[in-house]
Amino acid sequence: MSGASTASPGARTAAIALAVELDADDADSLAAAAGDWMCDAMEGDPSTPLGIQQDDATTMGGRDLSPGRGRVTLYLAPAGEEEATSRLRALVDTLSPLAAIARAEIADEDWNATWKAHFRAIDLGRRLRIEPPWDRHAAGERLVLVIDPGMAFGTGSHETTRMATELLELHADLLLEAGADLGRVSLLDVGTGSGLLAIAAAALGFGHVDGVDNDAVAIASARDNLRHNQMADRIALSVAERPQELEARTYGVVVANIISSVLLALRQDLLDRLADDGLLLLSGVLGREREAFLPAMLGQELELVTERDLGEWKGFAMRRRQD
Ligand SMILES: C[S@@+](CC[C@H](N)C(=O)[O-])C[C@H]1O[C@@H](n2cnc3c(N)ncnc32)[C@H](O)[C@@H]1O
Repeated sequence: MSGASTASPGARTAAIALAVELDADDADSLAAAAGDWMCDAMEGDPSTPLGIQQDDATTMGGRDLSPGRGRVTLYLAPAGEEEATSRLRALVDTLSPLAAIARAEIADEDWNATWKAHFRAIDLGRRLRIEPPWDRHAAGERLVLVIDPGMAFGTGSHETTRMATELLELHADLLLEAGADLGRVSLLDVGTGSGLLAIAAAALGFGHVDGVDNDAVAIASARDNLRHNQMADRIALSVAERPQELEARTYGVVVANIISSVLLALRQDLLDRLADDGLLLLSGVLGREREAFLPAMLGQELELVTERDLGEWKGFAMRRRQD
């Protein structure tokens, strides 16, 4: 199996890899469903995949695959294997019931190498580029953000992150065109994960940037990423269940890439943090959730400014109604 070597006898098992080979379209669907699974996971649930790898005949890990075929590999903590395997089986059954799930144990010493092989440098939006510390490149024209996600969400490869970054970039440009001094616009990233959006905002020129997440592990990895980008003095990070727990202040931009149910639960907190002329950038809403989500989120106070799609996901920019 690609990307997952079998543990040598006596080596400690750091992770379980479950791999499924499918037609390329089904592999896309399975990878998207597994991405949602990771995104929707409850904190501390051991059956949540630690990582997802998708290969085809053009990727390093998929050289054994025929054209038109793909492989999706989920990496799991051993404690969550049983539950994760039945959930994966149920997902695979909806796509290709005859497809087998191959299992491998990954030894401690192989884990980092396997994980890192999956995260390579990628371009994001029109001006940004994400490079993990192990895949650095010569400087080009793009603004480079060095991101090691660790165990946090936010590598730049998930569609919801891509869309949030694109909305951020678009609205930074619109603010500049309208004559704003971005250095005087503050931004709050709710559900910062690896810190990617906060770091992107600072790189794009936003002045005061704060990030918050309810997961201490995510904030630890975001702090490492601030150091990778020499931004420790430009971005303040906090662990909090709700933005309401932060210092009471408002921001010119509030960005949140979190599943729709959490966005709705945090609606009042998000509004309380939004300046009167502020912009709320949201990602993480599935297309099929749009009709229920939009009116509930907009309510009486907000109006829709921009709507974007990427894959099965929706992204929105909103502002306070001016009438
Ligand atoms: C989909 S990830 C987004 C990570 C990153 N901002 C990105 O765009 O790639 C959602 C993040 O929101 C965090 N989160 C979930 N519920 C939250 C809450 N109530 N308050 C703060 N953060 C929350 C999760 O821990 C996770 O890091």
